[in-house]
Amino acid sequence: MLTSAEKKTRIVVIGVGAVGSTTAYTLLLRERMDELVLIDANKDKAIGDALDMNHGLPFLGKAKVWAGTYEDCREADIIIITAGAAQRTGESRIDLLKRNVAIFESITDEVLKYNTDGILLIASNPVDVMSYFTWKKSGWPFRRVIGSGTLLDSSRFRYLIGDKLHIDPRSVHAHIIGEHGDSELPVWSLANIAGSEILLGEEDKQEIFANTRDAAYRIIETKGATFYAIALALDRICTAILRNEASVLNVSALLTNYHGISDVYLGVPCIVDHTGVREVLPLQINYNEKQLLNKSAEKLKGIIESISL
Ligand code: NAI
Ligand code: 2OP
Repeated sequence: MLTSAEKKTRIVVIGVGAVGSTTAYTLLLRERMDELVLIDANKDKAIGDALDMNHGLPFLGKAKVWAGTYEDCREADIIIITAGAAQRTGESRIDLLKRNVAIFESITDEVLKYNTDGILLIASNPVDVMSYFTWKKSGWPFRRVIGSGTLLDSSRFRYLIGDKLHIDPRSVHAHIIGEHGDSELPVWSLANIAGSEILLGEEDKQEIFANTRDAAYRIIETKGATFYAIALALDRICTAILRNEASVLNVSALLTNYHGISDVYLGVPCIVDHTGVREVLPLQINYNEKQLLNKSAEKLKGIIESISL
């Protein structure tokens, strides 16, 4: 047995398509873990990716990368699920529901056989529903089943605001909350740059939000898939967990009486540390934003009801 001082950090990535392999490579480049396990229904893809990444290790360092089996989930600190169907041009994330629920049924059965105390990080779409589904199925505390939520959307939003105002996006504090998808909403009432109000006209604001909400459609139309920014977002969540950062990130978490919303996963600011979601933060949104958040929750609840859990 390894003592806790010798415990190696292990991340398992399930589904090494565009998102999974880019995420794995990002984690490797940033030296986030000692062991990186790649699993895919297409075993050859996982084997090829592991070989390719291993051949880069002389330029990087100490990580061990291999194409594994579900048994390798046993020692995992974080299991990232990016497996399943992805949108084709014109499809919404919700259109993936039936295909991905079926895929998740088999994946979660396998993972849960071998791991009881890790953190599950879900990216497959529709991510809020897939996260809720996985949480229900696992029986784990909600804090250990996390969806990537609106972290990516918030990043797109901050980039677009920064680009418009010629400000470093890292200095733009602005949130997209709700569904990672068509019913998400911008929290303009709290958006700021170092505490200063964001001085943009209504038209600019509408354009920035539309470009945020519809970003994935545009990218899928052009190159077929989105993967670089989501890989960085997943890396950010893993880092907050592994370094016990207590960073505030807009991940998808179970809401309980959040502006009257309960029993649904949605993207809102959460404190993320080594326990997973330590706390869901009560964002002081205005009346109109509350209405929109409620609508987003109602949409997702309707979808959750349509799948038998
Ligand atoms: P992809 O088609 O490139 O990769 C999917 C991978 O899953 C394939 O390698 C496939 O072999 C594997 N797979 C399918 N069934 C499996 C199973 N039962 N067990 C193990 N592996 C299995 O798709 P891509 O572009 O990587 O997207 C993956 C998912 O991530 C999609 O649902 C997509 O919508 C979602 N996504 C989510 C984002 C977010 O912000 N949450 C951003 C971008 C994509
Ligand atoms: C994205 O927003 C498709 O959900 C994916 O990039």
